[in-house]
Order: sequence, then C-alpha cells, then structure tokens
Amino acid sequence: MSATASTGGGSVTITLDGSNKTTSMKLMEGTVGPAVFDIRKLYDQLGVFTYDPGYGSTASCESKITYIDGDVGELLYRGYPIEQLAEQSTFLEVAHLLLNGELADASSQKEFDLGIMRHTMLHEQLRRFFDGFRRDAHPMAVMCGVIGALSAFYHDSLDINDPEHRRISAFRLIAKVPTIAAWAYKYSIGQPFIYPRNDLGYVDNFLYMMNAVPAEPYTVPPVLSKAMERWFILHADHEQNASSSTVRLAGSSGANPFACIAAGVASLWGPAHGGANEAVLKMLADIGDVKNIPQFLSEVKDKNNHTRLMGFGHRVYKNYDPRAKIMSQSAHEVLKELGIKGDPLLDLAMELERIALSDDYFVSRKLYPNVDFYSGIILKAMGLPVSMFTVLFAVARTTGWISQWKEMIEDPSQRIGRPRQIYTGAGRRDFVPMGKR
Ligand code: CMC
Repeated sequence: MSATASTGGGSVTITLDGSNKTTSMKLMEGTVGPAVFDIRKLYDQLGVFTYDPGYGSTASCESKITYIDGDVGELLYRGYPIEQLAEQSTFLEVAHLLLNGELADASSQKEFDLGIMRHTMLHEQLRRFFDGFRRDAHPMAVMCGVIGALSAFYHDSLDINDPEHRRISAFRLIAKVPTIAAWAYKYSIGQPFIYPRNDLGYVDNFLYMMNAVPAEPYTVPPVLSKAMERWFILHADHEQNASSSTVRLAGSSGANPFACIAAGVASLWGPAHGGANEAVLKMLADIGDVKNIPQFLSEVKDKNNHTRLMGFGHRVYKNYDPRAKIMSQSAHEVLKELGIKGDPLLDLAMELERIALSDDYFVSRKLYPNVDFYSGIILKAMGLPVSMFTVLFAVARTTGWISQWKEMIEDPSQRIGRPRQIYTGAGRRDFVPMGKR
C-alpha cells in the first residue's frame, strides 16, 4: 500500500494509491509552536491509522495552559515566562494562574489562598491508612495509596459534571497532597504527624508539617521557604508529559479527580520522569569523585550498558531546560545562604555537566541538563531525604495535573482516550486441545 500527499489551502490531501479513497486534513495553527494536522477522519476515510509510539509527533489535545519551545529552551505558564514567575510570584499565584487562566488581583488571590488553605486537613480516619504501610515503604507508594483513597472520603465533590464539585476537588487536592506527603515522611521516620497550620501559607505550612515536632517550637527558616517556593513553581506544570497525559487518559473515562491524580503520581514515580531527581543523587553518590567521571561517562555511552546520565536529556528540550538554569542558580544561592561552602555534590554535578556538554555523544544528541539535574542538590542541602524528592515533585505537580484534568473535562471535544495499535501477533487460528499440543 502506498499513499500520495498534496498540500494547499491550509490542508493536506492524502490519496491511497490504486484506490479511490482520499481524505483532506486541515492544518490547525496554535498561538505559537508547530501546526498540527487534524487526522481525526483518517481511519473513517482511508481505513489506516498513524503509528507514533511515545507520541513524539502527536498532539493529544488542545491546551491553553503551558507552552514549551524545546528548541530555544522556553517555558511559559499561560503565556508568562517561567523565569519571571520563579522570580516574582508565589506558588499559589501560579496555582491560580494555571487553574483559572489569569493572574488574580490582590483580593481574588487572597480569597483563593484562603480557599485552598481551608482544605489542608485530612479526614481523621485517613490517619489510619498510614498505619497499614511498612515503615520502610517508599513514600511514593504511600502517596499513590492515600491520594487514591481520598475518593473514598470526599463523596460530596465527585460529580465531574458539576463545576462547583470540580472546583472543590481541585482545592482539596492542592491543599491535602502536602499534608499526605508530610505525613508519609513523618511515618517513615517514626515521628508524630504534625497537623497543618493555615496561617503559615502554603509553602511554609508544608515545611512546618515536615520539620516541626510537638516537643519544641519550630519557625520555618526564610531561606528554606524562599527556595521551596521557587522549587514548587518550577515543577508546577509541564504540558503533556507522561504523568499529565496519564491524568488526562484516566480522567477521559469519567473517573473521579482523586483517582486520576493517584494515576498521575504512579506515572511520575518512574526514573525517566519524576523519579529522576532521586536517581540523580544516587548517581552522584555512586560516581563519588570527579576522577571517576570519565569511567562513568564511558559506561553511559556504551550501547551494551543501560546506564544513563540521569538529569540529562528531554523529549521536548533540545536545548538547555530553562528550569535547570534556574535550579542551578538556586542551588548556588541556597548553599551560600545556608553557609555551606564547597558542597562536593554540587562540585561533582558541575564538573559532570561541563564534561558532558563538551562530549560529542551528548552534543550530537542535543542532551542538556533537565530540571532534575540540580533540583536534588537543593533539596539535600535543605535537609530533605532523597526518598522524598519525587514526592515533592508530586506535591508541586498536583496543581498542573488538576488544571490539565479540569481543562479536559471542560473541553466540548473531549472523548474517552482510546489509542489504536498495529497488530503484529498471530492471525486467526483454531484452539489446540491440551492433549494435541
Ligand atoms: N544519558 C545517555 N544517553 C541518553 C540520555 C541520557 N540521559 N537521554 C537520551 N539519551 C540518548 C539515547 O540513548 C538515544 O541515543 P541513540 O539515538 O544513540 O539511541 C538518544 O539520546 C535519544 O534518546 P531517547 O531515549 O530516544 O529520548 P527520549 O525523548 O525518549 O527520552 C528521557 C527522554 C528524558 C526519558 C531521556 O533523555 C532520559 O532517560 N533521561 C534521563 C532521565 C531523566 O533525567 N529524566 C527526567 C526528565 S525531565 C523531568 C521529568 O520529565 O520529569
């Protein structure tokens, strides 16, 4: 089978050679970024599918939330550059922006912040869920379980067709996920759970629940607060990545938002995605010393070895990830403000970056540091355990996930996500009874 394509008038026409089957596909233009062919009628009219494992050339939805230009290394939330948001806004301002499309004025923002903070407590019975886990459980396992369990507690906001239910579920998720994350941590170290304090604000309350103990007063150090605010903003959304697409796919069947976000957490956990921040720290610890970098990189470049340079490479960025630039700056600032001089991990990471960026293997494949390369160094300096790194990513990304989910539910063209396949298994054949095999 072969096909002939011709373009003109903002569309492409494809004719299957030797048949009278033809289809015309409209070219859809976004505000910025590559145009897309609308292939929705392809199967009906030509009887063929497209093949795109990993979705490298597929736009799965129309979205107004986040834009990435991977060639120049640009990231915009609702049109605003990530550099400006990281420098000038708060995480809850970004949450309002992602969810509602616009920056809020002072009084709407205050109302939004209060609205979120009023939902920080968990149903008291949810406490008992934590006891069911082993103390040495990975906190991401606890996150998957407890976030999924929220749907068993908040029945009054599960009607996805009701805009008020959608709003309350979004607020509940953004507010409660930090409490679940902090309690997963406290459980793992055997300390009592610390209840939220809404007067502290979103980021400080999270750090308070993580670090305070009932035995003595705790004040959140401003340096930690500022660094975490920025860290959360950088991780808030990233268009149709694996976990956001998972949230959308789960939600496309009409599943409730708590279940969908639990699905997103599961997808984030993998080392190719959010699990990379934890993997970077493990990798740096394994390399151990600058002198071992060449040997490590030769393992990475060996086709028969599955080692990857974690925190490097990205499906979309073929240039420096703008979040990595801010993370690297932030790592230096945090270490300086915490009075940590000459952190060996940072020195090792910088040297690894320098050598990799001058190595043809990485240059020719356009592999640059991504957000995860420096993020763990900041978290480690802030005293957070490595096993919590991906959990923090999930806390920040919950805002993006629920914004993507809400946009999908409110899109009139939304249908259940149902990819097709090219089948290469056995053709139809008759069952062979056991005695004749
Ligand atoms: N180290 C060594 N080689 C790499 C790496 C890496 N980190 N990333 C890609 N490559 C090579 C890969 O082997 C392939 O080479 P070849 O053409 O010779 O077969 C080429 O570069 C293209 O790689 P790919 O696997 O087709 O690229 P992808 O778009 O499917 O994967 C990625 C993107 C992020 C999964 C991958 O770059 C990777 O595994 N990076 C390390 C994990 C990581 O840091 N993940 C965090 C991503 S950013 C935050 C997030 O999304 O959560």
